[in-house]
Amino acid sequence: MKKIVVLTGAGISAESGIRTFRDSNGLWEEHRIEDVATFEAWQRNPDLVLDFYNQRRKQLYEVKPNAGHLALVELEKKFDVHIITQNVDDLHEQAGSSNVLHLHGELKKVRSTVDDRLVYTLDGWELKKGDLCEKGSQLRPHIVWFGEAVPMIEPAQRLSAQADIFVVIGTSLNVYPAAGLVYYVKKGIPVYLIDPQAEMLSGVQNLTVFRESAGTGVPKLVKQLVSGSEDAK
Ligand code: APR
Repeated sequence: MKKIVVLTGAGISAESGIRTFRDSNGLWEEHRIEDVATFEAWQRNPDLVLDFYNQRRKQLYEVKPNAGHLALVELEKKFDVHIITQNVDDLHEQAGSSNVLHLHGELKKVRSTVDDRLVYTLDGWELKKGDLCEKGSQLRPHIVWFGEAVPMIEPAQRLSAQADIFVVIGTSLNVYPAAGLVYYVKKGIPVYLIDPQAEMLSGVQNLTVFRESAGTGVPKLVKQLVSGSEDAK
C-alpha cells in the first residue's frame, strides 16, 4: 500500500466551527500569544492560561468532524494514511483516522508540571488551579507552547521522508518546525495543498494546489487518489 502523509492545521477544523489563529477574526487577534501560549505566561498568570484553554476545550465538546476529516478516513481503504496535525483538537480521531501524530499537543490532555511523562486525559472540559498530578504538582495543559520543544518532530520528519504522496491541508505554514516538514518529502513525490488562501510552495516541484476549503477540496482529492489507485491496479 502506498503511504500518504497528511499535514493538517487549523484550517481543516474551521468548518467544524473552531477558529483558526491567523485568519481574520482568528484567535491571535483576540489574545496575545505571549499572554496565553508561552511558559512565561503560565508562570506569570496561570488563571488566564487555564481559562484560554478551558474555553477552547469546552467548545471542542460542542463541535464535530467535518467532510474534510471524514474524507481522510475514506483514504485508509486504499492507502497507508498517517496524519501529522498541528491541531490540538481530536477531530481526526473522532472522525476515525487510525494514525494521528499531534505535533503541538492535545487539548483534552493535561500533564504534570514536575514530570513530563505524567500525562492524563482530563475528565470534562475544565482544568482548575488545585488539580494536581499524582506527585502533587499543578496540572498544566498538554500543549506545546511557543518556545517549548516539539517532542514529536523527529517521528514527523521521518514520516514525511517516507511519504509516497504528501498532502498539506489548512495551514499557513507560519510556525516551524512543523512548516519545514514539506522539505523532508523526497524529490519528485507528489505534494497536494488544500487551502482557500493557498500560495505556491517554493522549492516543491511536484505541487498541485486546490485553492478551496477542506470541506470540498479534501473529498475531491480523495476521490481522485482512490480512483487513480484503482486505475493503477
Ligand atoms: N479549509 C482549509 N483551509 C482553511 C479554511 C478552510 N475552511 N479556513 C482557513 N483555512 C486556512 C487559512 O487560509 C490558513 O492558511 O487555514 C490556515 C490557518 O492558518 P493558521 O491560523 O496560521 O493555523 P495553523 O497554520 O494551523 O497555525 C500553526 O500556530 O498558533 C500556532 O500552535 C498553533 O498549531 C498552530 C500553529
